[in-house]
Amino acid sequence: MLTLGIETSCDETAASVVRDADEILSNTVASSIDYHREFGGIIPEIAQRFHLRFIDRVAAAALKEAGVGFKELDLIGVTRGPGLAGALLVGVSYAKALSLGLKRPLVGVNHLQAHIHAALMQERIDFPFIGLVVSGGHTLLALVKDYDDYELLGQTQDDAAGEAFDKVAKLLEAGYPGGPEIEKLALLAKEVVDFPRPYLDKASFDFSFSGLKTAVLYYIRDNYKNSSLNEKARASIAAGFQASVIDVLTEKSLQACLRHNLKALVVGGGVSKNQALRARLKETLGDKGIRACFPEGSLCLDNAAMIAGLAYQLHLKNQISGLDMAVEAGLNI
Ligand code: KG4
Ligand code: ZN
Repeated sequence: MLTLGIETSCDETAASVVRDADEILSNTVASSIDYHREFGGIIPEIAQRFHLRFIDRVAAAALKEAGVGFKELDLIGVTRGPGLAGALLVGVSYAKALSLGLKRPLVGVNHLQAHIHAALMQERIDFPFIGLVVSGGHTLLALVKDYDDYELLGQTQDDAAGEAFDKVAKLLEAGYPGGPEIEKLALLAKEVVDFPRPYLDKASFDFSFSGLKTAVLYYIRDNYKNSSLNEKARASIAAGFQASVIDVLTEKSLQACLRHNLKALVVGGGVSKNQALRARLKETLGDKGIRACFPEGSLCLDNAAMIAGLAYQLHLKNQISGLDMAVEAGLNI
């Protein structure tokens, strides 16, 4: 069975052909990131115009790479939310048109569930498990009981982890997106600035990262009033910030696994590319006999293979969407 996945929730226009559950025949991504860079964040209007311009070319490229024609497709999967409303609308409209024209079923997919699903396409992980999404727009922990059964345990009350990386990178004049830049800077650190661990003392599984960003801002303001940040200081601040985020994510994830007596944590989203986070989760959870699972790098970031893969599983459960399916910008897990 061949599924075409379509993803347009943020700045990536993505399409992918997946055979059955997890054989990825193509995974094409075009990003408008270069057009957002000068603004230091995603501009919705630019993202949606880019999707409109490139969606058919990206889909055609994905089909070509997979060696598949439109008529050979069996199923169309598409991100229906959460994300930027105008951006989602492009992918959903395109997917609906294909579904109608080809007379193939359509499955609307939750982007956050798909981030967790990415790792399941690469290794066998039995339900139930704890899912951790750490992306540019979301940070949450969920109890995952099935492909269509997620219970939210906690989520960020303000900035997402990736958003915090991006904002702190901006303070350090380190480029955008900030995650990879902070990670590189942190590797150069000889000293690590001690920043607070937000929400770590709270019993809940909620997160908060905006205070941490402010702590970084104040630290720079108070210590470098009259001088610009040198390389050494930037590295120490980056390392301190990253250590704080990793501590909080690791401890809350561990507590979620222990509380529910589960032996696997499945991580997804752009921040899960971070090698220091991966190493720490593997080590800390591993010590308690809990497996930390991650998708490979390209499947951490926004992509359509995870959308196609989850659409396939939902289709097996008869979760077919109608052509009246609405985009849901604020969809939760
Ligand atoms: O999942 P994603 O591609 O998009 C959303 O759904 O939001 O995640 C993008 C986020 C950005 O905030 C980016 O800075 C962050 O993932 N990111 C990283 C790393 N690579 C990307 N954060 C920390 N370390 C990285 N290596
Ligand atoms: Zn995402």
